[in-house]
Amino acid sequence: MKAAQLVNEDGKQELEIKDVERPAVAEGKLLIEVHEAGVNPLDWKYAEGWYQAPTPVTVGGDFAGVIAEVGPGVTGLKPGDEVYGQAGFYNGGTGSFAQYDLAEAASVAPKPKTLSEAEASALPMTGMMALQALTEQLQLGAGQKLLIQGGAGGIGTIAIQLAKHLGAHVAVTCAADEIDYVKSLGADEAIDFRARKFEEVAHAYDAVYDLVGGDVYRRSYQILKSGGTIISTLERPDAELIEKYGVKAIYQSYNVTTERLNSLAELVDSGVIKVHVEKTFPLEEAHDALSYQENAHPKGKIVIDIK
Ligand SMILES: NC(=O)c1ccc[n+]([C@@H]2O[C@H](COP(=O)([O-])OP(=O)(O)OC[C@H]3O[C@@H](n4cnc5c(N)ncnc54)[C@H](OP(=O)(O)O)[C@@H]3O)[C@@H](O)[C@H]2O)c1
Repeated sequence: MKAAQLVNEDGKQELEIKDVERPAVAEGKLLIEVHEAGVNPLDWKYAEGWYQAPTPVTVGGDFAGVIAEVGPGVTGLKPGDEVYGQAGFYNGGTGSFAQYDLAEAASVAPKPKTLSEAEASALPMTGMMALQALTEQLQLGAGQKLLIQGGAGGIGTIAIQLAKHLGAHVAVTCAADEIDYVKSLGADEAIDFRARKFEEVAHAYDAVYDLVGGDVYRRSYQILKSGGTIISTLERPDAELIEKYGVKAIYQSYNVTTERLNSLAELVDSGVIKVHVEKTFPLEEAHDALSYQENAHPKGKIVIDIK
């Protein structure tokens, strides 16, 4: 089968489209015929060597496709079922930028009925992060004020829709040409981060969801009200700032589970969450897809069309 693999030759890491062996099904796992694979920042960060990958390894994690084989011990799913989920090598899988991947059954669920396979493949990582942050970690409620740093990206676009559904007041930071986009998703306020400092206009927020990190993360503490919470997908809690502003801080890590994927599918199929795919690439152009995700400031998700 064809796969986009990271290889390391003479100390130089490269992404290559290779013919490799199809993975063999195993206990607790599902062999998936991958039809579409969603691209996340994590994918280009591994490809660029930001994080160490166990080369040679197939990149990608999010997918939508059809079950080809069911491993021992897996119940409730059968060959031919349309599913979506996560199969990153960092998540017990074999990588989704391939014609087949092996995924932990615990990271797979039936595909949302109202989404195309491309849309479904764009949802697992971003949707799971938004769902976990807002409903489980923040337990965001009606009338609460949330600022999303980086609201026009993959996680942010799902988080805006979910936060509005939960009844929150939602402000986001984004680029000037993304203001109409985030407002169309339901954002109450959009702050052009290049035109002004968010701390000049945002005060006494119940929560910040930080998807940018660095200086933006550290400056965000001051816009929280006492007792408020900042969650970041990139930065660890800062003890000094927690003490200074009397707030809570959480570092969020991915955990794509069948339960969360089922909840996301319900939210999608009931019209609460829409998924926007901006552009698709064939598997042969996986390198360009990663580069586009990294450099082209996409408004929506990038998908690799494998079928
Ligand atoms: N900890 C974990 O387990 C975990 C899991 C998933 C994701 N992550 C990380 O979480 C981050 C967000 O993920 P994502 O999928 O939403 O990424 P994304 O699609 O790249 O979204 C990030 C957004 O932030 C915007 N941005 C950049 N600098 C900004 C600034 N100074 N102010 C406001 N917005 C700014 C970007 O705009 P432009 O596109 O215009 O630059 C982009 O729209 C990524 O870095 C990802 O690697 C971590």
